[in-house]
Amino acid sequence: MDQSAYSRFGRANHARRRLNLCLRPAPVYLPLLLALLAIAFVTSVDARAVSYASRDTPELASHEATVAVPRADNFVVGSIRGQPPTTRHFNFVVSQMNGSPDGFSKPMLVVNGLFPGPTIEANQGDRIVVHVTNTLSTRTTIHWHGLYQNSTNYYDGTAGVTECGIPPGQSLTYNFTVDDFSGTTWWHAHYDTQYTDGVTGALIVHPRKYPRGFPTWDEDIVVELTDIYHAFSETILSEYLGGGGGPLTGLQLETPDSGAINGIGQYNGSTKYTNLNLKPNKTYRLRLIHTGSAAAIRFSVDYHALTVIEADSTLTQPYTVSSVTLAVAQRYSVLLTTNQHAEPARNYWMRAALKSAVAVPGANADIRGILRYGSGHAAPTAGADPGVPGSGLADLDVAKLVPAAPRTPPPATKAYTVDFSIGGKPDGGAFATMNGTSWQPLQGTTTLLQIVDAARNGSMYAPEGASIQPGGQFLITEDNIEVVDVLLVNTGPGDHPFHLHGHTPYIMGFGTGAYTGTGLNTVNPFMRDTFAVPGSGWLLMRIVTDNPGIWTLHCHIAWHMAAGLMMQISSLPSKAAQLDIPRDIVRQCSA
Ligand code: C2O
Repeated sequence: MDQSAYSRFGRANHARRRLNLCLRPAPVYLPLLLALLAIAFVTSVDARAVSYASRDTPELASHEATVAVPRADNFVVGSIRGQPPTTRHFNFVVSQMNGSPDGFSKPMLVVNGLFPGPTIEANQGDRIVVHVTNTLSTRTTIHWHGLYQNSTNYYDGTAGVTECGIPPGQSLTYNFTVDDFSGTTWWHAHYDTQYTDGVTGALIVHPRKYPRGFPTWDEDIVVELTDIYHAFSETILSEYLGGGGGPLTGLQLETPDSGAINGIGQYNGSTKYTNLNLKPNKTYRLRLIHTGSAAAIRFSVDYHALTVIEADSTLTQPYTVSSVTLAVAQRYSVLLTTNQHAEPARNYWMRAALKSAVAVPGANADIRGILRYGSGHAAPTAGADPGVPGSGLADLDVAKLVPAAPRTPPPATKAYTVDFSIGGKPDGGAFATMNGTSWQPLQGTTTLLQIVDAARNGSMYAPEGASIQPGGQFLITEDNIEVVDVLLVNTGPGDHPFHLHGHTPYIMGFGTGAYTGTGLNTVNPFMRDTFAVPGSGWLLMRIVTDNPGIWTLHCHIAWHMAAGLMMQISSLPSKAAQLDIPRDIVRQCSA
């Protein structure tokens, strides 16, 4: 029996630690009644859990009418650490279902009936195989945010760029290794704004080893933070892009109704919370992942210091703070020790405060969960955020992040400046450009296929350097391994969280006002795949174009991406043209 077959069928027996971490509502009033409700809810969660034999092969439970919150072990990782390299198989079924993560029922797009979707956990050196079946009436794709896809660019899952999208009723098996990559990240649909409707999940890759002297922890927990919209994203998007004098402005349309922590949030007075039931006097690694679409999220735990040890997928020198603010698609791992006594029952609010540019009446930006290591089911007593009293700790400042394994970047051999902006068209619809070009997905083909076809005809899809190709394609092309500086210049007032696929760029510097060539860190810059470009400011990123393929660079705010705030970097197209693109991917484009 080959390794992959073994893996597929062996998975179900994989013993996963049963944890002491469960989801149940926090009674606020009427303790007796609510204790009963709590029991009822626990029971219903367990009943749902029965359908899932193992996290690694979750199957769509056909009797489920509505989206379920995954059972608690979806959010605990670490038990596979140190296993020999293997192939890990997953089955994803993408479907539309109604769900009510914050108590408000709405149509969602989900994987395996779950929100958040199933966690993918692997070790560095493993192969990950995900069979994705699309039951939607539109195409879909799954992108593996932050992964390098070295030699498998065609499995990057980016609609219009690396694939046309899985047609309705069809499947695609993504199959790639995680050799160089390790850390905390996530997967999500990369087709229009589908991920906003719920096609998201955690992706955790344990490194072969940690640097000498790196901090340790007792348990390892995934905390997925998101914003939530009550309307289907397609509906919001058509108003957002279409303008037409609708009652809401673009910024109002971008503003979420609420949010959730590990799939449970609050809206309109609902008091159901994600509960993390922990043990006292232990150190937990919380892997915070912003899987949302627009609002930055400030995360804190009342009375508890947080020690940052990872930002995106880069390990950091330990940095203790009172809160971390995550831009869309960013991740932080923080260590938290369960040693506080400020709350009599030793239960503490986890707070996810949504930061939007404008307020929308009725929206809830104060999302909470409960971290418990005492006894009882009561809610924490603290009203307003008490911070970490007496600690003198400040909020995270991204400029103070230092890599645990610093690297001095090679000097740049090429440099580009790319201005970008987002604004309204005369009809009020949103419209974004990078270098004057508003990205749109190619129709019936992909940039990667264009690159391959051109090479077959002895030419190039795009010349070396910066160029604009038909259909809203702005690219930077390098057919040699170069060290490329891209200066992103934000000509508008708001911050934009940019993400580059397939790389972990050096963040050489950023600031507000005009770039003057100063303020760069050329010695030990931080490296991360998602970074905020300040409003009316700039950010200079440096990459090495040694990963053959076509990689998007875009604002991760779902609405901005859909409005065209996206460009591509084509690395080594002559090599990319030799990639053996799977037939299933080529066929998608004529289906
Ligand atoms: Cu999280 Cu273009 O991706």
